[in-house]
Amino acid sequence: MSTEPDTSEVYLNGEFIPLGEACVPVMDRGFLFGDGVYELIPVYGGRPFRLSQHMERLDNSLGSVRMENPLQLDAWERIFARLTGSIPDIDQLLYLQVTRGVDRTRNHLFPQGGEPTVFVMAWTAEPRDPDISGKGIAAVVLEDNRWHRCDIKATALLGNVLLRQAAQDAGAAEAILVRDGLVTEGSSTNPFVVQDGEILTPPASNRLLRGITRDLVLELARGVDMPCAERHITRDELETADELWISSSSREVQPVTLLDGKPVGEGVPGALWRRIDDLFQDYKAHL
Ligand code: PDD
Repeated sequence: MSTEPDTSEVYLNGEFIPLGEACVPVMDRGFLFGDGVYELIPVYGGRPFRLSQHMERLDNSLGSVRMENPLQLDAWERIFARLTGSIPDIDQLLYLQVTRGVDRTRNHLFPQGGEPTVFVMAWTAEPRDPDISGKGIAAVVLEDNRWHRCDIKATALLGNVLLRQAAQDAGAAEAILVRDGLVTEGSSTNPFVVQDGEILTPPASNRLLRGITRDLVLELARGVDMPCAERHITRDELETADELWISSSSREVQPVTLLDGKPVGEGVPGALWRRIDDLFQDYKAHL
């Protein structure tokens, strides 16, 4: 690991400072309790992608944890523009986090009249990996043992972290999660199953994060009359899928070609994935 101080600029509580100098007090409830929410927004061609959808989801997450949005939209936009503006030609990812802020003591109860902690950073997105579009990725099926408010984009991600690591330890790039025999989501992605030419994804509920990428995939599919439905998917349907994909802001839409060590469909990225990926890349290019 490099010992050079990281000088890239980040935003913390009203200031733009080098990442290496950005610190929060140990009494911050984000540190003590994971008491905060976040968003991760791709930036293509210098412009935050599906920004209004991300900001709407941020408002929903904040509302669900009884916090107010600390900034107006134009203030968020100014921060995003400053952090990403220096390299507009390169795809980036923006991360923002709002915690319930610093308290005097460690107390589960909300502090009275505290100020939230607001943190934003941006970094260069990984270039598209030709191996993934050529061969696809491996996934494993794991029991979804997380809490029952997965619709909140909470920074408390220990359940997701453990599941993602378990997938990695099993030689896979993602865990597809099942609760009560039904597919919920991935450890940090939303799944799509293709059965008999129909694109399926679980319906939005408290059991999963309603991904911005997921919603765009559905919108793109419906726009060209590809059959698709938001409905429950059983473990059996998952295991006998013709195609399986995952989606997220950082991974876009990726084909899963190996599930629990067995080929999905033909064991190669499927025709419907190629169609959706083309539509997705085209949508990005014509923003
Ligand atoms: N993860 N489900 C979970 C649990 C996620 O963490 C994510 C995103 C998604 C997909 O959501 P979206 O399409 O809006 O990115 C679904 C982000 C990328 C992360 O935590 O890094």
